[in-house]
Amino acid sequence: AADQPADTAEPLPEIRNLVVIGGGVMGAEIAQLAAAKDFHVTVQEIDAAAADAARKRIEGLVKQWAKYQHADEQMLTKIRQQLHVTCDDTALSKADLVIEAVVERESVKRQVFRDVERLIGDDTLLVSNTSSLRVQRMAEVTSHPDRVAGLHFFNPVSRMELVEVVHTHDTDPRVLQRLLQFARSLGKTPVVTADSPGFIVNRVLFPYLGEAVQMTIEGYDAEFIDRPMRSFGMPMGPLELLDHVGIDIAAHVADSLSGVLPDAQAVAERLKEMSEAGELGKKSGQGFYLYKDGKMDRPV
Ligand code: NAI
Repeated sequence: AADQPADTAEPLPEIRNLVVIGGGVMGAEIAQLAAAKDFHVTVQEIDAAAADAARKRIEGLVKQWAKYQHADEQMLTKIRQQLHVTCDDTALSKADLVIEAVVERESVKRQVFRDVERLIGDDTLLVSNTSSLRVQRMAEVTSHPDRVAGLHFFNPVSRMELVEVVHTHDTDPRVLQRLLQFARSLGKTPVVTADSPGFIVNRVLFPYLGEAVQMTIEGYDAEFIDRPMRSFGMPMGPLELLDHVGIDIAAHVADSLSGVLPDAQAVAERLKEMSEAGELGKKSGQGFYLYKDGKMDRPV
């Protein structure tokens, strides 16, 4: 509770313009949701091919959203007008908030933070969606670490209610308040957490997911583990969830927890082996399960 900043009477600068760096699985979902909630969103990708892929991904999400919300053509047009994908960095100068959602590699993220900081205004917030890296490592390459924080969305963004707002030692409490406000305006429930391995959710969730991975190492079939967990009341089995998150991302999370949780290292190694073999889960068509046209087919 001490971590939860008190609401202040002083008005906070409004967030209207958003730049999302990286339009992959998470960036595309965050961008689509923010545009649907009336923010102006620019997705910045690394090159023209990646920008095209991001456009397709976002268009798919917009259509899915429209179906779910029973949206009419007018609403669809509005969302499309609110959302742009580009590979140039011109939108940064007008951004109120920049959300970094590039690949989970510290060196890449640190470079993004260095590059972005040169182009944003004084009041712009700079956050990372990282699930396993220390936000502090990105904050320390900037000259204003007080405006850097983590904003950890969960996958799929449109359905997962929680957002972890991660503060470092340097994050300004007003920055946290603006982020809490932003998360609420997306219809999410934010929680403030320290910049520690796994934050809150992955630290608690991972022993459960990791134990399922351990059981596969012992030779149990994926469905043998997942089916009873679904019947127990989980919306997805643990191995199905790992496939959904991405085995590569999960390997990074396991790795980051290896100093905190027993057995995380063995799980990280198994997940790394799978990633190196191209078994990235749903996005590559194979993980603990095989996928056909993006739908789960059968256990490997
Ligand atoms: P992804 O691999 O689907 O997307 C990454 C995107 O970043 C790609 O489209 C790539 O072209 C782009 N990119 C790479 N370098 C770039 C640069 N310098 N400038 C602009 N774009 C660049 O990865 P995903 O799964 O979306 O993960 C992104 C971040 O979100 C990671 O930090 C990950 O840990 C985090 N995250 C992922 C979750 C998941 O379930 N996949 C859940 C929560 C957080």
